[in-house]
Amino acid sequence: MNTVIVGAQWGDEGKGKIVDYLTEKTDVVIRAQGGNNAGHTVINDGKKYVLHLIPSGILWPGKSCIIGNGVVLDLFSLIEEINTLRSQGILVTPENLAISEGAHLVMPYHRGLDSSKESSRGNGKIGTTGRGIGPAYADKIERTGLRVADLDDPEAFAEKLALKVEEANLTLEATGAPKIDLEVLGREILEAAETLRPHFANTVALAHQYIADGKRLLFEGAQGTYLDIDHGTYPFVTSSNTTSGGACTGSGVPPKHVGQVVGVAKAYTTRVGEGPFVTENQELSDHFHGMGREFGATTGRARRCGWFDAVLVRYAGMVNGIDQLAVTNLDGLDTLPVIRLCVAYELNGKRIEFPPATSRLFDACTPVYEEIEGWLSDTTEIRDYDALPEKARAYLDRITATTALPVRIVGVGPDRSQTIFRA
Ligand code: GDP
Ligand code: IMO
Ligand code: MG
Repeated sequence: MNTVIVGAQWGDEGKGKIVDYLTEKTDVVIRAQGGNNAGHTVINDGKKYVLHLIPSGILWPGKSCIIGNGVVLDLFSLIEEINTLRSQGILVTPENLAISEGAHLVMPYHRGLDSSKESSRGNGKIGTTGRGIGPAYADKIERTGLRVADLDDPEAFAEKLALKVEEANLTLEATGAPKIDLEVLGREILEAAETLRPHFANTVALAHQYIADGKRLLFEGAQGTYLDIDHGTYPFVTSSNTTSGGACTGSGVPPKHVGQVVGVAKAYTTRVGEGPFVTENQELSDHFHGMGREFGATTGRARRCGWFDAVLVRYAGMVNGIDQLAVTNLDGLDTLPVIRLCVAYELNGKRIEFPPATSRLFDACTPVYEEIEGWLSDTTEIRDYDALPEKARAYLDRITATTALPVRIVGVGPDRSQTIFRA
């Protein structure tokens, strides 16, 4: 059965670890959206890997990975990532990593524009990762983007690039940011393309061949439901469809080949960057940061932390068609005497069960909490669902009751082995 993995919150739910866990029973792992704004951490036998563009499946020998057409690709960053993985002893070859010819390129001017636009937003800034993601997708939608396939025709590529650089330099100059040197960029990008060319492929045909051969596919979502350009807390979102539908458009694998959707949520909530966050809680942030946890895998920024928000996860269940939930970081709550779970919002004196339509309304919402007694014991060594403390199981049952989603996987630590599967 083919599986789509999505984040049910604001990203960093632990998707990388869950993908890694599920890859054992998979043949092909596909990224279908986002770019190197993603940071997916996998820890195995004490060795830590952080993936940005390459599917986490690369860590398993014998698995095939695809970067699909819906991804925006920074070639320089990808080469760096491949080199880092190789230095960690991971095999990356054209046989186990195919890159879509249809993927759009993230160029250095997109990064420059990302920063310039953020500075000009002042108090209304989004808190982007600064990786040029928004400007690259804007070019795609505006139909002026450069794609991997364009690299095959260096002359036509140079013409298109010249136009883009000229246009970008006007904005960069106006905001006092360094301008792009067309000649240097043109040379460097073609060099990078030469390095990566053996990986370029028609990944739609490839994915369909894998399907015809009876291989099992796993789609590794990046970001999370509330960073989705359509369903997230707009405008404090990323620029792609991070929800399950994005797996299809971003890979050319149609919905009829998706067998199930696994949603990943932390046992609490985190968010990095600006935007509404109804259950945000400073004490909880201090608790996690004090433990050295909840710092971003891409930018190192401290994540904002709050209680589990069932309003969001329940709605994520609808938008994505989540069949089962993986709840990660349960161990983060091990030492708390009282745990809160948000079951509804109050907006202008009225109880609401669904996320409101705008960020402004989100900001006006207050959480309606249920309180649950903490289990006050260490769960990190537990590998069997029934061996979890009764109060921890009661908490997970409340998550299921309030989100209407069955919890099938539980994370009790960052290592691959610290994963519990509930049969
Ligand atoms: P992703 O972007 O969704 O893949 O998540 P990140 O890797 O950005 O952030 C998740 C963080 O939580 C990483 O530091 C993981 O190593 C860590 N993590 C994942 N699952 C667990 C868990 O069950 N317990 C603990 N303690 N850490 C976890
Ligand atoms: P993974 O895949 C958490 C956030 C940024 C910012 C907003 C827009 O690791 O879960 P962008 O650079 O995409 O234009 O930034 O989205 N963001 C993420 N937050 N996890 C991510 O990815 C994120 N990717 C982007 O912090 O708020
Ligand atoms: Mg992350």
